Amino acid sequence: MNVLRLSGIVGALLVLLATPLDFADAGTKVVAGDDTAAPAEPRRAFMLRDVRSRVLTDQDFLGSYLLIYFGYTHCPDVCPTTLLTVSEVMKGLGDDAKGVVPIFITVDPDRDTPEHMAEYVSAFDERIVALTGPQQFIDAAVTSYNAYYKKVPSTTAPADYTMDHTASIAFVGPDGRLITRFAYGEDAAQIVARVRETLGAARSN
Ligand code: NI
Repeated sequence: MNVLRLSGIVGALLVLLATPLDFADAGTKVVAGDDTAAPAEPRRAFMLRDVRSRVLTDQDFLGSYLLIYFGYTHCPDVCPTTLLTVSEVMKGLGDDAKGVVPIFITVDPDRDTPEHMAEYVSAFDERIVALTGPQQFIDAAVTSYNAYYKKVPSTTAPADYTMDHTASIAFVGPDGRLITRFAYGEDAAQIVARVRETLGAARSN
């Protein structure tokens, strides 16, 4: 694939991924048309790679509930704490965990190699899907989920930079739309209860 074609595809994808937010940012009114019946909550889109270099998009996860978390493996405290909570939630869900996929998306692809991410997430729970990709694609995913990150340079060693980042967990439905966010520090048992409640409501419909 030549560079021109690739950059065209990347450009098209970025436009596609950025679309829901562009509407919000521009304050554009959605006028009468096919969109009028669409729910206000947009479908959250991403296209990234897993630790085995497979390209995965939000479309691959339609039909599953997702627990999506943005972070980085060098994180000193927030990420390990949250991933521990995620692992407790997955254990706590028991059989109900079958319909739930935990996803960890790095905001630090320079240091988070696929090998390093694989090792890191498996220390918490083998079911956690670790995703990375080119910075532009990560940025598109961050934007799509209304998440945030910012590199914080180190005063001592350049390689020891840290990342400020969104610490909540996005709970996404099988239609790819956000259900709610679990705040940093929320108890695993509370999250399990909320996920179960959602699964139960969906079953009885
Ligand atoms: Ni972190």
